[in-house]
Order: sequence, then structure tokens, then C-alpha cells
Amino acid sequence: MYVLWNGNIVKQEEVVISQEDRGYQLGDGVYEVIKAYDGQLFTIKEHIDRLYESAEKIHLVIPYTKDVMHKMLHDLVEANELTTGHVYVQVTRGAAPRNHLFPEPGVEAVVTGNITFKERPVENFEKGVKVTIMEDTRWLHCDIKSISLLGAVLAKQAAAEKGCYEAVLHRDGIVTECAASNVLGIKDGVLYTHPANHFILNGITRRVIIQCAHEIGLPVKEEAFTVEELLAMDELIVSSTTSEVTPIVQVDEHKINDGIVGDYTRRLQASFAQRIA
Ligand code: PDD
Repeated sequence: MYVLWNGNIVKQEEVVISQEDRGYQLGDGVYEVIKAYDGQLFTIKEHIDRLYESAEKIHLVIPYTKDVMHKMLHDLVEANELTTGHVYVQVTRGAAPRNHLFPEPGVEAVVTGNITFKERPVENFEKGVKVTIMEDTRWLHCDIKSISLLGAVLAKQAAAEKGCYEAVLHRDGIVTECAASNVLGIKDGVLYTHPANHFILNGITRRVIIQCAHEIGLPVKEEAFTVEELLAMDELIVSSTTSEVTPIVQVDEHKINDGIVGDYTRRLQASFAQRIA
């Protein structure tokens, strides 16, 4: 496998990451996961923009222009002859003796990227998935796509141990998002999802679904809803780069729409499918 390492596409075995990399020791970095469909990077501009926004929010300077980043990710896809799968890219604040304070000027950010071949999870799209509800114990900068993912890791693991695909998180009864995805609900012909503030990551798939909703004439309200309201939704969706438009048919022991994927979800899936074709 070929990977991206500090501006070059190299064989994975050639990569050397310092033990003192701040990503490794402090989780001090940001990342993106981008989907490739048939070798084409979907919504690449939005992902690169968000990577640079995340970096800016933590005062991390990425040592490449966005155009160079775009080219490097494109070269990574080509080198691996990636068809359908994911590109992962991360940027850390570089390697320096361990210290919470930012390193001295001159320590460059470390940029790495790799790919995974992965088919689209079409069975989930068809049948829907089960999720569980959990308290959101993460920090208050969820708008930053930080590599510090311990809260998400623990939530997703706990969900998996209950046989669930995702953990829907709430703060004081208000649903925010999932451990590694957004959640959207449809009630009485209106699509609801948490506003894009510091409580959630403004998912790029979430944004595409909002466009799809406009296209199919489904009104959208970026308004938070409670756990109680979530359970009363007509349809529920979990969205991310990897999950696309995945229907939720069960929340813990409670079935949504009698466990049947709803009509709006099907129409949103169809509209989404047109965009990736
Ligand atoms: N996760 N919310 C959180 C907390 C996420 O980690 C993600 C993505 C999303 C959805 O964002 P997008 O639609 O832009 O992928 C929402 C990625 C896929 C991951 O960490 O693997």
C-alpha cells in the first residue's frame, strides 16, 4: 500500500513517525475521512475546507495550500488504484519533546494519509440499523474534527457490545449526534437535525442530505430535538461519509415506524445515490 507522508507518496513500510509526535502523545491534531466512489473523491472540496477550518480552530498551520493537499490526496488514490473506499488524512502539530504548550516555531505539522478499499454498506441501506442512546460525555468543541476521539471510541464500543450500529448521544435529554455520525429525524413531513454549532460536527453528508431534502420538497428545520421526540419520529437516519443515508429502524427496544424504512428515507437515499453516480 502507498501512503501519504509529509508531502510524498511512499510505500507504507517507509514511513517513520516520531515517538514524540504530538498526535501520538497528546492527540493534538485533526483529520478527515473522504469517500471514493469509483476512484472519484466525493465532496473533496468540502472535506479539504473542513480540514483547514479544524486546523485553524486549533491554531495549527498545515504546510500546504489546499490545492496541493487536493493533488496529494488525488495522487494517493491513483497510486493505490483505489476504486470504492475511504481516504483518511490527518495532520498533527508535529514532533517535539512532550509539553502541552505548542512547540517552538519551526516544528512542522506532520501530514499522513492512507486508503482503505471498502464496498458501500448496502445491506444497512436496505434493512436499516439498530442504535442505542447514551449520554454525550465528549468535550464542547465537537465542531472540530479532532483526532482525540476517546469519548467517541468508548461510546461506539459500548454500542457495539449491545449489538448496535451506533450510539445516539444526548446532553441533558437533547440529542446532539452519534459517536461517529450525525442523526436526522423526520416527523410529520419535516426533516429535523441539530443545528451546526459546537455540539456537533457539521457532517458533509448531513449537508448533502439537506440539499437532497430540498430537492425532494421535504422541509428542513435545523433544530435540536429531545430523546423523547427522537423516539416519536416517523423516520430516523444516521449519516456520515461511511454510513451515507443509513435508516435507523430501532432505538434500543423501541421500533421506529414498526421497524420499516420510511418513504422519505428511501427518496433521500435515491437523491443521494444520484449525486455519487
Ligand atoms: N466520522 N459526527 C461525528 C462525530 C463524526 O465523527 C462524523 C464522521 C460525522 C459525519 O461527518 P461526515 O458526514 O462529514 O463524514 C458526524 C468519520 C466518518 C469517522 O470518524 O470515521
